[in-house]
Amino acid sequence: MNNIGHNNPPFDPREAIEENINRKKPILDRDPQFYQNIPLPSWVELSLIDVCNRDCNFCPKSDENIAPNTYNKMEFKLIDKMIDDFKKINFDGAFAMCGYGEPLLHPDVAEISKKIGEFWGIEIVTNGDPLNKKNLRQLYYSKVSKIVVSMYDGPNQIGKFEKIIEEADVPRDFVILRDRWNTGEEFSEYITNRAGTVKSGNQAKVEDLKDKKCFYPTYHTQIDWNGDMFLCPHDWQRRNPVGNLMQKDFFEIWNGNIIQKYRKMLLNGRRDSLPCSTCNCNGRVHGSKHQLAWKNLYNI
Ligand SMILES: C[S@@+](CC[C@H](N)C(=O)[O-])C[C@H]1O[C@@H](n2cnc3c(N)ncnc32)[C@H](O)[C@@H]1O
Ligand code: SF4
Ligand code: SF4
Repeated sequence: MNNIGHNNPPFDPREAIEENINRKKPILDRDPQFYQNIPLPSWVELSLIDVCNRDCNFCPKSDENIAPNTYNKMEFKLIDKMIDDFKKINFDGAFAMCGYGEPLLHPDVAEISKKIGEFWGIEIVTNGDPLNKKNLRQLYYSKVSKIVVSMYDGPNQIGKFEKIIEEADVPRDFVILRDRWNTGEEFSEYITNRAGTVKSGNQAKVEDLKDKKCFYPTYHTQIDWNGDMFLCPHDWQRRNPVGNLMQKDFFEIWNGNIIQKYRKMLLNGRRDSLPCSTCNCNGRVHGSKHQLAWKNLYNI
């Protein structure tokens, strides 16, 4: 995971998104790892905290009815249990701290990173607002592999972040600055409806996707602050957890009946049940080898 990444920001939303896809290819599009003949995910996304300081109009976090700022945060008890679960299956993928809020607002983000980073690569996706030279340096020495900064305001942010990086005295390629200024058409094209929770942007029609496959639950896993596991990062409805990590082992949930039902449905090109029936995400950008491994296993 430390090898993954570019740091040559193109500063054009379309190119930035393309670069982001390419950056993740080596891990998301690799041959899957197996445990007890079951393909494992390559990417574990954690939602550390249910709060954000911004309210971007394209993000469900801006809607109080969908994703209010509850300030709930992931506790060490769950982190330790999760580390045990992933060690048990010899997991060799990577972690991302992103999710349903702003990860750098979790007061223990450095300590959590240190624990997870002992075993796996970690990428933190942030709006950059909480970053300063002190915490950037601390994150670097807490075994974080990459900090990915989504810049929403405009090119004026570049100088500010370059200065923080220089003053923190961390390698330049530790931080990726990506252009997501949301004033142009380019970013608007990229917006998805987060399983029916976002209307803004120039979005694909849900009907056009209803018979399309989706690979997310074959290569990705999404874990909320309280241990609820969801199908993908697009499910902002958060009404249908596939299990909870405080109640069951990760592998039991990953190989359990609920997620299997969704996987089979999605690999057969059916998006019949919520949240998938309201989703307009392509779902096939990554994970081609993982989906193939699951199809072979299911004989479909
Ligand atoms: C929800 S944010 C959480 C991390 C952090 N707050 C940030 O903005 O980078 C994770 C990512 O989702 C993206 N995002 C949010 N709403 C989106 C939407 N409707 N369509 C596509 N991407 C979206 C953000 O731009 C960001 O890259
Ligand atoms: S995109 Fe990130 S910064 Fe913007 S509201 Fe959503 S969680 Fe917050
Ligand atoms: S169809 Fe949409 S909601 Fe369902 S798993 Fe894929 S991305 Fe997630």
